[in-house]
Amino acid sequence: MMSKIAVIPGDGIGKEVAPEGAKLLEQLSSARGLGLELEFFDYGADRYLKDGTTLPPEQLEAFRRDYRAILFGAVGDPRVPDSRHAREILLALRFQLDLYVNLRPVRLLADRFSPLVGKGRKEIDGVFFRENTEGVYVDVGGNFKQGTADEIAITEDVNSRKGVERICRAALDWARKHGEKTVWMSDKSNAMRHAGGLWQRVWKELARDYPDLELRHMYVDVLAMQMVLRPELFRVVVTNNLFGDILTDLGAGISGGLGFSASANLNPGKIGLFEPVHGSAPDIVGTGKANPIATFLTCALLLEHLGHDAEARIVEKAVDLAVAENVLTPDVGGSRTTSEVSEFVRAQVARLA
Ligand code: NAI
Ligand code: MG
Repeated sequence: MMSKIAVIPGDGIGKEVAPEGAKLLEQLSSARGLGLELEFFDYGADRYLKDGTTLPPEQLEAFRRDYRAILFGAVGDPRVPDSRHAREILLALRFQLDLYVNLRPVRLLADRFSPLVGKGRKEIDGVFFRENTEGVYVDVGGNFKQGTADEIAITEDVNSRKGVERICRAALDWARKHGEKTVWMSDKSNAMRHAGGLWQRVWKELARDYPDLELRHMYVDVLAMQMVLRPELFRVVVTNNLFGDILTDLGAGISGGLGFSASANLNPGKIGLFEPVHGSAPDIVGTGKANPIATFLTCALLLEHLGHDAEARIVEKAVDLAVAENVLTPDVGGSRTTSEVSEFVRAQVARLA
């Protein structure tokens, strides 16, 4: 069976790292007969500045209908100061494809990258499930008496039972599949009683469906502190859009930074969007300093989504070898270029596949 994969490099270093990821996928596909069919799309600042196109609705339909995954680079370009194209492309993909799971692994690739004294890979590794379609990011709210001394601004926090339940189930199902025993739900239900109350009720109800798992809870402020003091507590965490945004950046911070951080936007069973967490990094475009490892780990998530778990492990192993030999870019203490690191990783994959 063929699997159609769209590749959208986007802007800046997205155009440097996404093609390296695509090459890796092509390589694995032919070595292991995965039947991946990659197709590049030029959505991004250049296209937007040329003809005003961001993401055509009929293309979105085609993605939904015919494709199983999108490998995305990054969007954001200084020539588009209001980032209109970026918002339209990424938000259209996330919201209109209803990709309600933002899965972000926190994975320390080697103990030397840990900023936490005495905490290594065993303690830091975990996976975060961030709700991706609701919360305070849905742009519901308004302003009153704007520009006066009495100005009022309201941003609503939108939480539906369906939305809360499906993200919690995604985390619990993932834990079950991966042999994890404990899942943490994090909210601020002591202060935000209406939304938090819903999360609390759903979480208690779900405990009945997952008797094999331990469903625990921690307030988000406490959890942020404990991620630094006792990260070993957290193997799987589920939380809302805003808290997840903040906690996962903290997670990136304690696991070596943006050059290593991968993410998936999912609606289980449907097309998924896979992207490194970093942006388009205009400050290093064209210098060969872009770290491709976040993209390779993103490819591993993509492969897993397609059911190619063994190939995902091969990619992770190849990345581990680059880390062990310090074949890395300057952001993580190496002295190699994007293409040198990429070639090294692909050479390891060639051996392992
Ligand atoms: P950024 O992630 O692009 O860069 C932050 C810092 O990290 C920079 O110093 C950059 O050089 C470094 N960095 C990032 N990725 C790296 C990599 N793979 N290898 C080595 N160094 C790396 O975030 P910033 O500077 O806030 O935003 C730049 C542009 O990217 C903006 O237009 C922003 O809107 C956009 N952006 C897009 C995202 C996306 O497409 N999902 C996410 C975040 C930002
Ligand atoms: Mg963020």
